[in-house]
Amino acid sequence: MTQDSGDFLHPRPQEISLSGCTIETLQPSDIETYIDIFRIRMGEDNHEDNIITSALIKDYERRLQNSNWILLIAKKDQKIVGGLEAEIIGGGERSQIRWGYVDQRFRRKGIATDLYTRCEDVLAKKGVSEMVVFIDDRNIRSRKFHGTYGFEPVPDSRSLNGKLYRKLITRS
Ligand SMILES: CC(C)(COP(=O)(O)OP(=O)(O)OC[C@H]1O[C@@H](n2cnc3c(N)ncnc32)[C@H](O)[C@@H]1OP(=O)(O)O)[C@@H](O)C(=O)NCCC(=O)NCCS
Repeated sequence: MTQDSGDFLHPRPQEISLSGCTIETLQPSDIETYIDIFRIRMGEDNHEDNIITSALIKDYERRLQNSNWILLIAKKDQKIVGGLEAEIIGGGERSQIRWGYVDQRFRRKGIATDLYTRCEDVLAKKGVSEMVVFIDDRNIRSRKFHGTYGFEPVPDSRSLNGKLYRKLITRS
């Protein structure tokens, strides 16, 4: 991999964004903290043993090596306060948001908007023209956020308890 393509996949920390955070690509040294934070915040079972944690760490290490994954984190005062994960699918034309989360104490400050904006920039540079996200019907906050950001429901995409939402990437 050339230096250029490495920087493209894993850009260096950027200037402070509108929300007052830096938006950065997840680094190997951040993976463990990222997993811990998001497990705890999401109220998932914290009794999982180290085998599962180490399997998850390996998953993220693999994703960092895979140019189809965009893994972004938002940091405030050096602490991770949000994350966004997107995977390029469909032969490179489309992307699916796999995970997005902002620490409850930092919501409604534009952090998710900054994460999505950066993600769109990266996707646009890779020639991806569309983002989709599956949203559970009960997740009103997420539906509202994605609606404000510009996502629209995909017709006939209903699954058990939610549906897909789509946003076209117009910039290049
Ligand atoms: C959905 C989620 C990621 C949004 O994160 P967030 O950082 O609060 O999002 P933003 O601050 O960019 O935008 C949220 C709202 O605040 C508004 N806002 C943004 N900056 C603002 C500011 N400086 N002052 C006041 N309001 C602001 C936005 O317009 C938006 O309005 P709306 O959603 O009511 O239409 C967050 O609520 C979350 O983590 N939820 C739990 C996990 C989840 O549901 N993830 C999505 C799974 S599909």
